[in-house]
Amino acid sequence: MRILNRLKELNEQMGNPKPLLLKIAPDLTDSQLDDIVEIVTQTGIQGIVATNTTINRSNLVTPTAEVEAIGAGGLSGKPLRKRATEVIRYLHSKSGGSFPIIAVGGIYTADDALEKLDAGASLVQVYTGFVYEGPAIAKNICKGIINKNRN
Ligand SMILES: Cc1cc2nc3c(=O)[nH]c(=O)nc-3n(C[C@H](O)[C@H](O)[C@H](O)COP(=O)(O)O)c2cc1C
Repeated sequence: MRILNRLKELNEQMGNPKPLLLKIAPDLTDSQLDDIVEIVTQTGIQGIVATNTTINRSNLVTPTAEVEAIGAGGLSGKPLRKRATEVIRYLHSKSGGSFPIIAVGGIYTADDALEKLDAGASLVQVYTGFVYEGPAIAKNICKGIINKNRN
């Protein structure tokens, strides 16, 4: 909270202040997510980016020994999709939609993007999906959304 307040202060001293968004892990508990809502509300920063990579290794198709041999680190992409959506839905509901949530985590397709928007996200971001699908991913997602008459 102190760091965010100081950042906000410094940001406001600049001629052209930028929106400040807090990026969070998908591994936070509900009670920690409640704290995040409180922090955003108290500090008055502009919103949240949800989520970063996960340290969770459950539900992977890769054998456990192979996963363990790879070692520690953040996991991104498809295994993260469901949890990232849950976090967004929880934050949106707890905050009553009072601040924007930028969704990121396992978005590859229009359906993935709509899942995040339906959970309460204001915008979506792709990272790993961009690596696997290439630069056309943005166009494909936008076209997919238009085709579903959901734009
Ligand atoms: C190789 C790699 C590097 C990343 N570096 C950063 C980083 O420097 N800062 C950050 O906030 N998130 C970083 N991320 C997290 C991504 O921005 C994103 O939140 C996460 O990967 C989930 O989205 P995705 O499933 O679309 O990849 C990184 C992810 C990967 C895979």
